[in-house]
Amino acid sequence: MAYSIDVHLSAEEVRSQMRADALHGLRGQFKSIPPVWFYDERGSGLFEEITQLPEYYPTRAERALLHEHAGSIAGLAKADTLVELGAGACDKTRVLLAALREAGTLSRYIPFDVSDQFLRGAAGALADEFELLDIHLVIGDFHRHLPEIPADGRRLVAFLGGTIGNLDPRQRARFLFDLNCTMSSDDTLLLGTDLVKDRHRLVAAYDDAAGVTAEFNRNVLRVLNEQLGADFVPDRFRHVAVWNEEEQWIEMRLRAEEATSVSLTGAGFTVTFEKGEDLLTEISAKFTPARVEHELFEAGFVVEEMWGAGEGEFLLTLAHPLC
Ligand code: SAH
Ligand code: AVI
Repeated sequence: MAYSIDVHLSAEEVRSQMRADALHGLRGQFKSIPPVWFYDERGSGLFEEITQLPEYYPTRAERALLHEHAGSIAGLAKADTLVELGAGACDKTRVLLAALREAGTLSRYIPFDVSDQFLRGAAGALADEFELLDIHLVIGDFHRHLPEIPADGRRLVAFLGGTIGNLDPRQRARFLFDLNCTMSSDDTLLLGTDLVKDRHRLVAAYDDAAGVTAEFNRNVLRVLNEQLGADFVPDRFRHVAVWNEEEQWIEMRLRAEEATSVSLTGAGFTVTFEKGEDLLTEISAKFTPARVEHELFEAGFVVEEMWGAGEGEFLLTLAHPLC
């Protein structure tokens, strides 16, 4: 096999976590479901389509920063292992891997993701391109399984794409603190965060003209149907993207076009939506460089370098644990 793999999330554990999230999120006054459930194989594919859309600037902006600064990142990190959290298609990773290889330090790549089949496909393609690289996949949830990631060697831990913005402030603080606890003083963190900008631009990035983001959003209902035997009719829910100025985040919601009742057989309950009622499916927080530095500091990290902080659209931050 082209790679080795550790699986910390079985199909049964996925279902049981989803059942718990559905019970917790769908029965209260304000309904929500965590964004992690977008990413079955179809959802991961739809996200890749989103990254190609003219309105969705973050992927292009981050890739440009990586192309420009990967040499400096590799020089500062001096890592033999690249760990990538929420690796997805492992696409921008290639730029980092090439720079670490060029620096002569690279020996291992550890992509970590919840999306099992999609990650296997992505890693298979990568293995063909980086023949001598030791590729070790870890399937898990970054809220629970960070301690399961191999910690030996000198590691560059990358968390790209702005995915940290899909966590609310409390989850972020907890996540960064937990991550810090798994890192040694030789390890480095590379964090990608999207920056606050004109709200029309932001909303357009999450409500594209071709309707791909709408389909990605509704995919969570298909996942609930498949995994929990629910009977959502996705087309009865309208995709909504709004900028929450106070919280500085985009909210993606699914709005019931008519009153509807949904039974989740596998979770043992029924949920009713009034006409116009929203289900919150994702927040995508946007940052200032000062806020990123502050949140990292609170979690025990010291910033070494930031790229994109000036007039940039997106920010890459290199930090190391304050030990
Ligand atoms: N890093 C890639 C992909 C971003 S999409 C990029 O920058 O383009 C977000 C990725 O995080 C998806 O692959 C999704 O499966 C993964 N993900 C989301 N929530 C997760 C969680 N709780 N634990 C592990 N992976 C998660
Ligand atoms: C993965 N994450 C950073 C994306 C984002 O921009 O928040 C997910 C996404 N949601 C809608 N479009 C893209």
